[in-house]
Amino acid sequence: DLILHNDKFIREEELVISKEDRGYQFGDGIYEVIRVYEGNLFTAKEHIDRFYDSAEKIKIVIPYTKDVFHKMMYDLVEQNEINNGQVYVQVTRGASIRQHHFPADTPPVLIGYTKTVERPVELMEAGVRATFIEDIRWLRCDIKSLNLLGNILAKQEAHDKGFYEAILHRGEVVTEGSSTNMYGVKDGVIYTHPTDNLILPGITRSVILTLCEKLEIPVQETAFTKTQALEMDEFFLSSTTAEVMPIIEIDGQAIGGGTPGPLTKKIQEAFKANLN
Ligand code: PDD
Repeated sequence: DLILHNDKFIREEELVISKEDRGYQFGDGIYEVIRVYEGNLFTAKEHIDRFYDSAEKIKIVIPYTKDVFHKMMYDLVEQNEINNGQVYVQVTRGASIRQHHFPADTPPVLIGYTKTVERPVELMEAGVRATFIEDIRWLRCDIKSLNLLGNILAKQEAHDKGFYEAILHRGEVVTEGSSTNMYGVKDGVIYTHPTDNLILPGITRSVILTLCEKLEIPVQETAFTKTQALEMDEFFLSSTTAEVMPIIEIDGQAIGGGTPGPLTKKIQEAFKANLN
């Protein structure tokens, strides 16, 4: 497989990353995960827009136009002959003598690579279990930053306890998952946290909201509490890799009947139909 290093395609053995790359030392960079279905980048424009937005929010200037960048992503997928998989791409503030403030005139470092991944069909049918974990992350969760300690510590704690995902909450209020967005369904209405500084504006989330509009399923972008979460008729999460994933149990307590709910299934079907 080839790796994208800045604007060049190289073999993995050729890749050299500096000991003083700021991504490595400070987590000073941003990233995207883009899904590939049947050789096509899914919602590429939305991911590229968010990539550039995240970069801008931390004052990294990506030295390519979005069109050139899109072509680079396309070429990467084509060269590596990815049919179903994903692209991981990140940009850091580059390599410079270690100091906290930004170096002057240091070019950013871009890395992109691909991986084959199948759709999580069985899990989506059966549903998964989740656990509440306090959201200890910073206050700019809207940035898809390489700093993921708060996320990975939560995911690890969930994983250690045998859960698929951590449902993060600030005090009583549910925000999102450690690497997913969260939704509850009550009396036919879908509730999900609004896109502010406390959550990542998920691309899958925006696809789901558009589908709900078409299906005339009411959505309220309003935060809900842990107590309300446990009283939902249905619960699900979303992400680029997990798609629309039913949550059938939270901390051992069954949600709805402990099986994927009808609205969740309806959205899953619409999501699948929308891939082609
Ligand atoms: N995670 N919230 C967080 C904190 C995330 O890291 C992600 C994505 C999402 C869902 O966003 P999207 O639908 O655009 O994938 C929500 C990616 C997949 C990851 O880190 O691997």
